[in-house]
Amino acid sequence: MDQSKIISSEVNEAQIAVHWKEEEIYRPSAKFIAQANLKDASVMDRFSEKNFPGCFTEYAEMLTWIEPWREILDTSDPPFWKWFTGGKLNACFNCVDRHLEKYKNKAALIFVPEAEEEAPVAITYQEIYARVNEVAAMLRDFAGLTSGDRVTIHMPMIPELPITMLACARLGVIHSVVFGGFSGEACGLRAADSGSRVLIYADSYYRGGKLIDHKSSAEVAVESARREGQNIDKVLVWRRYPGKYGSVTPMVEGRDFFVDEVLKNFRGKKIQPVAMDAEAPLFLMYTSGTTGKPKGCQHRTGGYLAYVTGTSKYFQDIKPEDVYWCMADIGWITGHSYIVYGPLALGATSVIYEGVPNYPSAARPWKIAERLDVNIFHTSPTAIRMLRKAGFDEPQKYDFHFKHMTTVGEPIEPEVWKWYYEVVGKGEAVIVDTWWQTETGGFLCSTKPALDAMKPGSAGPGVPGIYPIIYDEDNQEMQAGSGKAGNLCIRNPWPGIIQTIWGDRERFVRQYYQKYCRNPQSKDWKDWPYFAGDGALMAADGYLRILGRVDDVINVAGHRLGTKELESACLTVDEVAEAAVVPVVDEIKGRMPEIYISLKPGIKASPADVKAKVTQTIETMIGKIARPKTVQIVPDMPKTRSGKIMRRVLAAISNHMNVGDISTLANPDIVEQIRVQVQGQGPVETQEGPEDVKHFGTVE
Ligand code: PRX
Repeated sequence: MDQSKIISSEVNEAQIAVHWKEEEIYRPSAKFIAQANLKDASVMDRFSEKNFPGCFTEYAEMLTWIEPWREILDTSDPPFWKWFTGGKLNACFNCVDRHLEKYKNKAALIFVPEAEEEAPVAITYQEIYARVNEVAAMLRDFAGLTSGDRVTIHMPMIPELPITMLACARLGVIHSVVFGGFSGEACGLRAADSGSRVLIYADSYYRGGKLIDHKSSAEVAVESARREGQNIDKVLVWRRYPGKYGSVTPMVEGRDFFVDEVLKNFRGKKIQPVAMDAEAPLFLMYTSGTTGKPKGCQHRTGGYLAYVTGTSKYFQDIKPEDVYWCMADIGWITGHSYIVYGPLALGATSVIYEGVPNYPSAARPWKIAERLDVNIFHTSPTAIRMLRKAGFDEPQKYDFHFKHMTTVGEPIEPEVWKWYYEVVGKGEAVIVDTWWQTETGGFLCSTKPALDAMKPGSAGPGVPGIYPIIYDEDNQEMQAGSGKAGNLCIRNPWPGIIQTIWGDRERFVRQYYQKYCRNPQSKDWKDWPYFAGDGALMAADGYLRILGRVDDVINVAGHRLGTKELESACLTVDEVAEAAVVPVVDEIKGRMPEIYISLKPGIKASPADVKAKVTQTIETMIGKIARPKTVQIVPDMPKTRSGKIMRRVLAAISNHMNVGDISTLANPDIVEQIRVQVQGQGPVETQEGPEDVKHFGTVE
């Protein structure tokens, strides 16, 4: 390793110590550049501060408007920015109707069922149009929904999910999709918060080879909403196989209805798309905060749709002739922005896969890519790590060729990035590491795929029109290239930012703007930087290295260490497949990192040797300050259904605290196994931990 590249920096308490080594850069291939949507370097000038906010009309003009906007950015009520005010449009029209003339015969969605015996189903734009209209008619005339009403949708990855979302958008009904893997309880609380009186469900779906009974969670949802004071009048249930009920829960007379039966009354019905104000809310997406109940992130129609369309075109490089597969779940923001709204607004073909990436084996994604000739692939570091662990050489066995690949959602370790690049991308595809959040609507930081070099582990610079800045705790700007990290902020508003937190304006201001607002009376956007809640450092070239949530920073003897930095170091050890680092209370140092690792299959080295190697690697790559208290080798990590490692649970185990609710985990059984390994047999310990450890890993 080139020791000279290790940055070591003296930091004060307001800053975060960083020990990353800068990676070598990779350049996009000439073949990719030749065909890219974004190859004109003048884009940075077009979107430079002197052209703000007018630059964003470039994105708005990609849409079809019913009435033009009067003002691009209205700053009269900071920080509640309004975009494209006076304009009217319909999101469903933009994603469906307007493509019919040219593309009615083209697949809008390709649904890949989890069971390999079930063939993929291509749904054309014409078919989506017909189905969305019928569903919109049902929602309006059977469920009594009208524009501005909220509806909670708790559905898995089946095409009826985007069809339902688009039907809502056609009517101006605000949808709130709750990730299918969440519990009925979680769904009910969100339904109550949003004031939904209609729930839309699926009866069942496949996951890991099993048909899961999903409708049973609707009973819990209705009950938990009722406890919060919200009555649910109707539960509309899509059946995975129309006519065949896949749940054991009885349907409640007068409340529950099978969608396939109700739709018979709306066959061939057409509903005029409702002209919505640009500022009308399009949807809510709930996300966890460090404290309190989940926040209903409220996204607007015009600005959001413009932003995801523009960024899909430039950063996903989507063209109508591409086969684009984002392996996220539509129940998260990535799915809303980059499976449904962005790609469909561009007339693309978007693949929806029902199941888990490793069913029946870790070759599944590559088989799907080969079969459908997918050429743009989008997934998370967690999925990449998992596929790398379970099938390192599998991608080589299949004949697929990506031109473009995305990683999103967490920092990616350079080791993992290189596997993605060499083995999955076969050295041909560009990679964009896109940093953004539920609140931001779309990508904020990324390399420009044909224009910028790629740096493994770095999320690239601010995308056009986004001006990132790093502040320390004392409001001092951390200079690019200083080697010091702080809190990542965005200096300016952009069209994809949420309007507010549903029903809680005060929390919106407190969470994102209070910390760095220069003057609460000011109507100048320059006084209102957006606080993202992530630790990051900016290299001299403007590329951002994300260290994780600021709440996930471990303070060791007064030095704040990014957990990701440690995890990434662990992954350079050959034997290690996955790593998670949590803080453990230490009498002398305050906190120390405790390291959990899982190993690649077939490892011969002894556990003691691997542990010693991990400790030594951390000491060499980061320093003795980061020496772990212990290294635990575990058979698997506790994970959410979306695949994120639950560091919160590991931190609780390490600190002998209550592990909290683990019912929504993909593998809840592993928790007790790890607990016994770490704490020994004996009673479950539930001591109260310190605040930072209690909150560690709770922000998703
Ligand atoms: O900590 C950052 C991390 O994910 C957080 C946002 O999570 P969520 O709202 O669930 O949205 C996920 C999909 C956009 C961020 O605050 N994060 C997201 N993308 C990256 C990332 N961390 C590092 N690199 C990324 N590319």
